[in-house]
Amino acid sequence: MPILPPARHIPTRSEGQTEITWANGSDSLGGMEEIADVPSPIDLREMRSARAWAQTAMEKRPWRKEFFETFDCLLAALGPSPSVLELGSGPGFLAQQVLQSIPSAQYTALDFSAAMHALAQERLGPVAAQVQFVLGNFKEADWMSSLGRFQAIVTLQAVHELRHKRHASRLFAQVKSLLVPGGIFLMCDHYAGPGGMADQDLYMSIEEQEAALRTGGLGKITLRLRKGGLALWKAEN
Ligand SMILES: C[S@@+](CC[C@H](N)C(=O)[O-])C[C@H]1O[C@@H](n2cnc3c(N)ncnc32)[C@H](O)[C@@H]1O
Repeated sequence: MPILPPARHIPTRSEGQTEITWANGSDSLGGMEEIADVPSPIDLREMRSARAWAQTAMEKRPWRKEFFETFDCLLAALGPSPSVLELGSGPGFLAQQVLQSIPSAQYTALDFSAAMHALAQERLGPVAAQVQFVLGNFKEADWMSSLGRFQAIVTLQAVHELRHKRHASRLFAQVKSLLVPGGIFLMCDHYAGPGGMADQDLYMSIEEQEAALRTGGLGKITLRLRKGGLALWKAEN
């Protein structure tokens, strides 16, 4: 990943405000040119960085297991063979959990890192054959083209990889467009604020996460699990 110049800081919201209204008064669907993204400290497309992330992810946040199980329960409620798209699927932790408990799930794993896909294939072993691996960048305008429709779209610790929270509601609107009617979006990411992250440009607060899901056009939004700085939301198309 090219080294980006340091982000220019432009105050984006006042404390306590939960509307998605940014420095220039617009939402994420347009007119945001003057706000810089937050540079990433690592390039997860490099095998060394991808492997290092995978090796420490569970140690750093052992409570991720509880999140996997919650994803699992919510997906199992869709029936024996739900179609599932995971965004930012990484080294395949969630896919492994879901395919163990729902073996006939039709699982599509999207990530922009070929290195992460290779690690996921290694982790899944023979089960990898039933996963469709898509090399795609969810920051690009047309990442959704030719993906089809899904009963569930899931994502874990990846939405902040948009590198600025102002992009979230656009991503969520794109997610909605890929869901069948009544399909579900399970969105889990770090949140900013007490008990969470300090960077309020990169990460949304709990209230902003909910507001971005709503602005993205999703409904029946419920917080299903909040622990260790991560929040898992269920929303419906
Ligand atoms: C922090 S890791 C989380 C991996 C996995 N979801 C997990 O929790 O085990 C973030 C993942 O998002 C991927 N990613 C980052 N930016 C992306 C983008 N713009 N499009 C697609 N994938 C991206 C990275 O390659 C990485 O696999």
